[in-house]
Amino acid sequence: MIEVHDLNKTFKKVVKEKGLAGSFKSLFNPQTVDFEAVKNLTFNVPKGQVFGFIGANGAGKSTTIKMLTGILTPTSGKCTINGFNPQKDRKKYVQEIGVVFGQRTQLWWDLPLQETYSVLKEVYQVPDKEFRTRMGFLNEILDLNDFINDPVRTLSLGQRMRADIAASLLHRPKVLFLDEPTIGLDVSVKDKIRKAITAINQEEKTTILLTTHDLKDIELLCQRIYLIDHGEKIFDGSIEELKKQYGKIHEVVFKLENKNDSSILDYQKKFSNIDTAVAEDTIHVYFDATKVPLPNIIKYTLDRVPIVDVAVKDPDVEDIVRRFIRREIGNDSEKV
Ligand SMILES: Nc1ncnc2c1ncn2[C@@H]1O[C@H](COP(=O)(O)OP(=O)(O)O)[C@@H](O)[C@H]1O
Ligand SMILES: [Mg+2]
Repeated sequence: MIEVHDLNKTFKKVVKEKGLAGSFKSLFNPQTVDFEAVKNLTFNVPKGQVFGFIGANGAGKSTTIKMLTGILTPTSGKCTINGFNPQKDRKKYVQEIGVVFGQRTQLWWDLPLQETYSVLKEVYQVPDKEFRTRMGFLNEILDLNDFINDPVRTLSLGQRMRADIAASLLHRPKVLFLDEPTIGLDVSVKDKIRKAITAINQEEKTTILLTTHDLKDIELLCQRIYLIDHGEKIFDGSIEELKKQYGKIHEVVFKLENKNDSSILDYQKKFSNIDTAVAEDTIHVYFDATKVPLPNIIKYTLDRVPIVDVAVKDPDVEDIVRRFIRREIGNDSEKV
């Protein structure tokens, strides 16, 4: 349904020299550097899959979605969605897809919500009868009735997000792009939105590409997880595979008596396959228990510095994804 091949996006970024003189210089003679926001992404999403497109802030998720929805043109590479080229077949293509950017709305700010839907009905040329059944269904899964006559600007964030999702679904799109649809929402609204996403996916076999920072969203909704970091793929698989591949990474936390002692400990030098994160007087040590036995790490530590407390943690998938997102795994140069 979604075919992406070697997709790249490079932005020109202006480099500014320091100070006021520098500002003037870059104003009149801007120096730019190429910035690769998306690098060689290749993936296929089959019909009906909920595809979790996951990564830290700035990883390139929204840029990719903008290319897949025809808002941005790729620097190189190809994307085809249900046989359409988003840039070339733009007019026909918009009938095929629904898009929600959690950070902004596609609703008319001053119109009562119902009016927005009436306008969209005309835009997408939905026949009267179909429109009525569709609105009934969307009301049912997203609970719009309480505020459907209110102007959009008076809606709460949670109401607005539900209204936006309904708007993206009015024309029965085959593919739905949801860019952070649960951002900033409270638990009960998140729950409602998750149920609506599940209903749409199950009842209409809608293919869904979802980005989120919410680990519950990932666990409850995503049938497949595609992790990107700095524009590149770092993992592609199911949550079970993610657990298998990284579930063996355990964590032990030492609380030191003297915080300056952390410099004495050099786990990387002593062991391979180990990651550490130091915060004040605590050291988090991440390791693969099948490669480095826990007692060795504890002994190494106790032999060198006085310890106040030791805690061993078994990571669940939430920890794993969180650590992935914080780039603690797979990238030695950046540690928390
Ligand atoms: N129009 C643009 N011009 C220059 N840089 C951009 C532009 N849009 C995004 N970027 C940069 O590309 C990177 C990826 O951004 P984005 O795709 O929004 O990340 P994400 O959605 O994963 O948080 C960021 O470093 C961002 O600053
Ligand atoms: Mg984004």
